[in-house]
Amino acid sequence: MQSLRHITSINDLDTEEIERLFVVAESYLKKLGDKEVPYRIARSLDELPGAILAGLFYEPSTRTRLSFESAMLRLGGKAIGSADPRTSSASKGESLADTVRVVSSYSDILIVRHPRDGAARLAASYAPVPVINGGDGSHEHPTQTLCDLFTLKQKKRSLKNLNVAISGDLKASRTIHSFVYALARFGANIVLKPAPGMELPADVGWRLENEFGRKRVQDGQTGEAWYVSAYRPRRQSIDAVYVTRFQSERWPNAAGAYPKVNAEFLRKKEFRTTAVMHPLPRVNELDLSLDSDKRATYFEQAAYGVPIRMAIISALLSSRAKEALKRHPGGFAEGAAPIYRTTATSGIACVNGNCIVHDTVDGPYAAGQFRMIASEPSRLRCFYCETDIERFWIGDARTRTVVSNDEARSGWSAARNHERHFYASPEKAAQSGFSLGMNEQGTAPQTKRRNALRS
Ligand code: NCD
Repeated sequence: MQSLRHITSINDLDTEEIERLFVVAESYLKKLGDKEVPYRIARSLDELPGAILAGLFYEPSTRTRLSFESAMLRLGGKAIGSADPRTSSASKGESLADTVRVVSSYSDILIVRHPRDGAARLAASYAPVPVINGGDGSHEHPTQTLCDLFTLKQKKRSLKNLNVAISGDLKASRTIHSFVYALARFGANIVLKPAPGMELPADVGWRLENEFGRKRVQDGQTGEAWYVSAYRPRRQSIDAVYVTRFQSERWPNAAGAYPKVNAEFLRKKEFRTTAVMHPLPRVNELDLSLDSDKRATYFEQAAYGVPIRMAIISALLSSRAKEALKRHPGGFAEGAAPIYRTTATSGIACVNGNCIVHDTVDGPYAAGQFRMIASEPSRLRCFYCETDIERFWIGDARTRTVVSNDEARSGWSAARNHERHFYASPEKAAQSGFSLGMNEQGTAPQTKRRNALRS
């Protein structure tokens, strides 16, 4: 039996699977494309008769919802769902987990968009059918990334060694987070052009460097941060500029200065053959005058939403799954990091205030789960929103001693899983009867911390 696959992060798919989805999308374009506008799907087929897609949109959507619905109709299936959460039971206080368990009885595949980071993974943990993340808070938007990568590939042939500039709200744009992971994994170099105060989250940068093989370098002239492949000097031309709007719904205060991409910005030599990309909607950050510029790629990018989402649905539901997706949930790093479940006394909780686990309605449906990331020092990554806890304390049940994750070198080798306890602070560890211990090098922890434990 095919095991259940969900797409909650771009990293749920390995690179081979992404390439195969692109082959399927290309085959739809070839077979069903408009003769005049080759990136537009103009005809339908009968691949999934009777299949039903349900959309659970707790946030506004135009492209994601309509292109998923169009994709399902083009495949010969049907789409249900409401565009406005105020007309669903969410407005009566129903939890996402309950809604998912009900609606999955009415459909074969779910697409979820939600203001909370980690909502898609929570939904997936309750669904007996595939769940696709249509954007969860500022966490990720993996299917947008598939459209973005596919667009880049159509324009530039290969993704390897491309230079891609990312401009705007790098902190809150979920499309950027999924996109930079994928760019790094496919071998592109990334240059960051954040609006002031809207820099790429430290976690995302850490993953680019430590999990996806990029090296962070600072451009001596501009001061801009680049994430480049380790041994390759970078070229100066920028192959694509990816622009996003200020994510006003995720910021309590209005934006200050915000970079605008216009003819003036693109006048520099490095942008001569650049592809100007934007997930849309645009507000003011992308000048209308660019619409007639041959570098403008954003409407084509939006059009690819249909063939790409046809490929995704088909891979998850039809016999095409055998061709495009592997039998077992694989993903890029899946399985490599074991799961830790918090205990009532640990004090360990997700540090991201917008994570679904902190929601008053949905939080009680989430288990306190973290992936144990074996870096040096180790990290605990929220299973839902993937924010890392960088500092915590590790207790060894055999010796009843505790050391900070910083001091507990050699990854997770200090104790076997069931003998290991995690604490948010030395005080929490002390409450459970642990005392500060030696680290693996046999050195006593710093006195300051000993005092902290005593007090
Ligand atoms: C994006 C989103 O919802 O994150 N929209 C989309 O799906 N194309 C981008 C945005 O809203 O800025």
